[in-house]
Amino acid sequence: MGEQVEQSGRAADERVPGERTVRVRVPGKINLALCVGPRRPDGFHDLATVFQSVSLFDELTASPAPAATITVEVHGVGAELVGPSEDNLAVRAAALLAATYVPHAGAHLRIDKGIPVAGGMAGGSADAAAALLACDRLWGLDVGTDALLELAAQLGSDVPFTVLGGTAVGHGRGERLEPVEVGHTFHWVLVTSGQGLSTPAVFRRFDELHPPQTVPEPRVPDGLLEALAAGDPYALASTVRNDLAEPALDLRPDLADTLATGAELSALAALLSGSGPTCAFLAADEAHARQLAVAFTERAVGRDVHVVTAPASIGVAHAGRG
Ligand code: C5P
Repeated sequence: MGEQVEQSGRAADERVPGERTVRVRVPGKINLALCVGPRRPDGFHDLATVFQSVSLFDELTASPAPAATITVEVHGVGAELVGPSEDNLAVRAAALLAATYVPHAGAHLRIDKGIPVAGGMAGGSADAAAALLACDRLWGLDVGTDALLELAAQLGSDVPFTVLGGTAVGHGRGERLEPVEVGHTFHWVLVTSGQGLSTPAVFRRFDELHPPQTVPEPRVPDGLLEALAAGDPYALASTVRNDLAEPALDLRPDLADTLATGAELSALAALLSGSGPTCAFLAADEAHARQLAVAFTERAVGRDVHVVTAPASIGVAHAGRG
C-alpha cells in the first residue's frame, strides 16, 4: 500500500543516471520530560524538555531528479494518513535546503514509514531531518550540522532534535538543544493508537486548562539527567513527566485506560509520548519489555505494540549509485 505523489509531470527516466542515491534511517522520539511554560506572544510555549530517540524508524531514500523538482512517495504504516506532497515536511525541508544553497537542485524522496503518523513521536519532523541530511549528501553540499539545525528550526520545533537524534535537553520552543551523552540502554514498550491527535489542539487545551499567569517557567525535573547517566530505569521512572498528558487525555479519555493498563501490568512508568496519542511504558530490562508487550497484545490495547530501545541514532543506511 503506498501513495505516490508527484509534484512534477516529468518522467523518471529524465533523471540523471549514475548519480548517488542516499538512504537515511531516522528514529522517532519520546519526551522523557515535557515541561510546558506559559503561551508566548508568538503562540508557541517555552519548554524544558528531554528528547530521547527510540528504535522505531522511518527510512528516507533521496535519488536524483530533474532540476528544481522535488517529488515524494510515501509507503509503510499509516502512509495513507500522510497529507498531500505540498504539505509534506520532508518536501518542504528539501525545498528549503535547495532554496538556501542550490536553487536548481532536484530530488525524488521515497519515505518508508515505521514511526506512527500523528502519533506524538515526531515522525514528520524525522522525515524532514532525513530529507535535510540526505539531500545535503545527494547534492554534495556538506553544509555542516549548525547550518542544518538552523534550517531545521525554520521547519518545526522538533525538527532540530531529529537532525541530531540520541538524547538532548531542549529549551525555547524545543529548538535550543544541549545534547546529552547516555552510555546506557533503556527499554520501552510503545502502544500506538488508531487515531492521531493534533499537537496545536493539545497545546490549545493546555492553555484553556492553565491560564498563562498560573504557569511557572518550565524546568527539567530534578534527578532525571542523573538517572539517565546512571542507567537506572527505576530512578528514571520516578522523574519522567509530561505536562501535555492532562490536556491530551481531556481530548482523548480512552488514553487514560491505556496508561492505566500499563501501570496495572507493572510498567515502571506510563508516559504519553509528546502530545500523544502514542503511550510509552518503561521496562526494567529487555525481558520485562517483552513480557509487557505480550500482555498489551493479549489485552488488545491500542493499535500496534512495539518493543524499543533508547537512545537510538540516525544512520546513513546506504549511499550508492542511482
Ligand atoms: O513547531 P511545530 O510546527 O511543530 O508546532 C506545531 C504547533 O504546536 C504550533 O503551531 C503550536 O500551536 C504548538 N507548539 C507550541 N509550543 C511549542 C511547540 C509547538 O505551542 N514549543
